[in-house]
Amino acid sequence: MLRREFLRRLADTSPVGILVMDRDGQITFANPRAEQVLGLVKRRITERRYNAAEWRASRYDGGPFPDDERPFSRVMATGQPVFDVPLAIERPDGQRVLLSVNAAPLRDAAGRVESVVATLEDVSRREQAMAAARESERLLQQSQRVARLGSYVLDVGTGVWTSSTVLDEIFGIDQTYPHDVDGWTGLIHPDARSGMLAYFTQDVLGKQRRFDREYPIVRPSDGSHRWVHGLGDLECDAAGRVVRMLGTIQDITERRRADEALRSSQDQYRALVDGVRDVIFALSPDGVLTALNPVFEEITGWSRAEWLGRQFAELLHPADLPGALGLLQQVLRAEPRPTAQLRVRTRDGGYRVGEFRAAVQRRDGAVVGILGIVRDITDRLTLEEQFRQAQKMEAVGQLAGGVAHDFNNLLTVISSYSELVLGALAPDDERRADLEEIQAAAARATALTRQLLAFSRRQVLQPTVLSLNAVVTHAENLLGRLMGEDVALVTRLDPALGSVKADAGQLEQVIMNLAVNARDAMPGGGTLTIETRNVEIGGAAAGAPESVVPPGGYVLLRVADTGTGMDAGTRARIFEPFFTTKEPGKGTGLGLATVYGIVKQSGGYIFVDSEPGRGAAFRVYLSRLAEPAAAGAARPLPPKSVAGSETVLLVEDEEAVRAVACQSLRRLGYTVLEARNGESAAQLAAAQGAIAILVTDVVMPGMNGRALADRLRARRPRLKVLFVSGYADNAVLQDGVLEPGLSFLQKPFTPEGLAQKVREVLDG
Ligand SMILES: Nc1ncnc2c1ncn2[C@@H]1O[C@H](COP(=O)(O)OP(=O)(O)OP(=O)(O)O)[C@@H](O)[C@H]1O
Ligand SMILES: [Mg+2]
Repeated sequence: MLRREFLRRLADTSPVGILVMDRDGQITFANPRAEQVLGLVKRRITERRYNAAEWRASRYDGGPFPDDERPFSRVMATGQPVFDVPLAIERPDGQRVLLSVNAAPLRDAAGRVESVVATLEDVSRREQAMAAARESERLLQQSQRVARLGSYVLDVGTGVWTSSTVLDEIFGIDQTYPHDVDGWTGLIHPDARSGMLAYFTQDVLGKQRRFDREYPIVRPSDGSHRWVHGLGDLECDAAGRVVRMLGTIQDITERRRADEALRSSQDQYRALVDGVRDVIFALSPDGVLTALNPVFEEITGWSRAEWLGRQFAELLHPADLPGALGLLQQVLRAEPRPTAQLRVRTRDGGYRVGEFRAAVQRRDGAVVGILGIVRDITDRLTLEEQFRQAQKMEAVGQLAGGVAHDFNNLLTVISSYSELVLGALAPDDERRADLEEIQAAAARATALTRQLLAFSRRQVLQPTVLSLNAVVTHAENLLGRLMGEDVALVTRLDPALGSVKADAGQLEQVIMNLAVNARDAMPGGGTLTIETRNVEIGGAAAGAPESVVPPGGYVLLRVADTGTGMDAGTRARIFEPFFTTKEPGKGTGLGLATVYGIVKQSGGYIFVDSEPGRGAAFRVYLSRLAEPAAAGAARPLPPKSVAGSETVLLVEDEEAVRAVACQSLRRLGYTVLEARNGESAAQLAAAQGAIAILVTDVVMPGMNGRALADRLRARRPRLKVLFVSGYADNAVLQDGVLEPGLSFLQKPFTPEGLAQKVREVLDG
């Protein structure tokens, strides 16, 4: 009895539900806990029997639970107890309960299974908590995977670490991989290994700082390279010793690749912007310069730092501001490809002309900036200007050449007849002075005609190999007189100066013209320096005037003064014919045009350096020759007697010139045959026996002088020839340069000049 009471108490107070079922599955006993868990209701309290269990069984996860696997059925079928069967039921009140069931058979005296006793443990709470934990673990993993973020815990003392699944995926390892110090360093890319170890021991552990590093790794699984960002916080024990590090590893390979791609595309753009020959700039909407590429410094001479942050307008020529504004308005109106030519200030106080293009940068409709590109077209404009200038000069030259041709003939006639008449007058004839005035005027007109021909490069040049030093020395005598008292003349002649091939008389003209200009620029006195030097040209900086000179050896003639100098406007025009700043009557403006023409016709180059108040220096470059200058290039002495009895064939298409030339020669005893053109001269010569000398005009309609001489000489190789001409015609004299060895008389000539030259050629 006592024992029965004990069992009953036990059953009543048990936290485990206890059930007894008979062979038919009818519940014959349930303790209070079982009633509570299963929601059982007694049919009749006294009867101690229960309604047949109505609950549906299922697995924890909701899957079907086969009838024959239910604990009751299994015990009945096998007669063996079952333990810890997970079984979910749905109670009549609809609530789902998770149970852990044990069941065992109860046998009668004969050993037959009479009923089944089962214990039920309600594990709903526990299972739910576990499911929630599993779910949150799953979510954690999922979010780690999405973030490519793995986590780890490192035991600092042992170096052993644990890793999350995602961390393993990032590193390409699994849980069998050695999770120790060697395992970790083995994952780091060999190039970064020692650096990372030093960082971890010195910076993180040593200074108790947060681990925060991006580093490259090599995945053992496939050897591929990736980048990770490791973060880790240190945990200390009560004594303040570091015990653990908790942290995350993020796979940042994609970001690094994107960064790298961005960097390389930025690098490309930068290289493009930095390397381009055009200036590229950016402006804020209110016109402040916010970016400039390096070529800006090259073109303007300013440093970029000097201009960034300043108003763009200050960089422009004040007169060009309306143009800049116009461009901006066109850009804002989105007109297609507007451009403007604007002048940009340079550091040296000048301007360069830029061709501007611009584009507006908008964000969300609002203007956030202006981007612009400027091409420096100064040189192009200069070239165009030079080309126009050259065309103008060519036209003027043609005109001048034509005029000079006629002038020379007229002047020959004027000079010749005045000389002839003068020769016939008695020494005390009072008409002499008048005739001498005519002669002087003719001489001035002759000089002017020469200048016209010189600047139009139609002079007949008689180049020889000579030393510039000799020309300067020869000119020096004349210069002393020209310069006046208060101008000091200094010459610095290089004794080792190389020779050049040029017309000595013309070079003297160059020096004289430059010197006279210098004198005019020094009304209060000063110093004129004439210098010669050997120079090598090559690799002159772009933009330097000498950069247009082909590389090679040159002889430099430098003529410098300490006079008034010139401003840029004057400097730009000095070589133009008829450009002068001198008052009327003082200058014709032909001096430097002549110099320029002679230098150019001689294949040389001329440059000038001058600033107002700082004097002027002209530099003339002529090609240097290897051969030495011909000794004694001086003109032959005039013959003692100019008379002769030889036969002269005189060919000249201009009637008056021919007449006076004939007269001059005949008076001296020569037999003169005249012809008015090449063809009739050739006929005359064929019919005639002895002809000692052919005196022929070079430029004639029909057969020219050269052709005639060649034709006659084919029959008479010893025939002497004297060419006469007023100017160079390309058909006869290429570039006006007379072949060495040919005898030449420049028009206009005088009877005396003609006679001397004829005698000289006959005797030569
Ligand atoms: N050494 C110099 N210093 C200052 N200005 C000069 C110098 N040489 C030339 N110029 C300027 O260049 C202008 C043109 O010179 P250019 O020799 O061609 O003509 P010009 O001297 O005026 O006249 P012309 O030589 O025909 O008598 C001069 O009027 C002068 O303004
Ligand atoms: Mg002059």
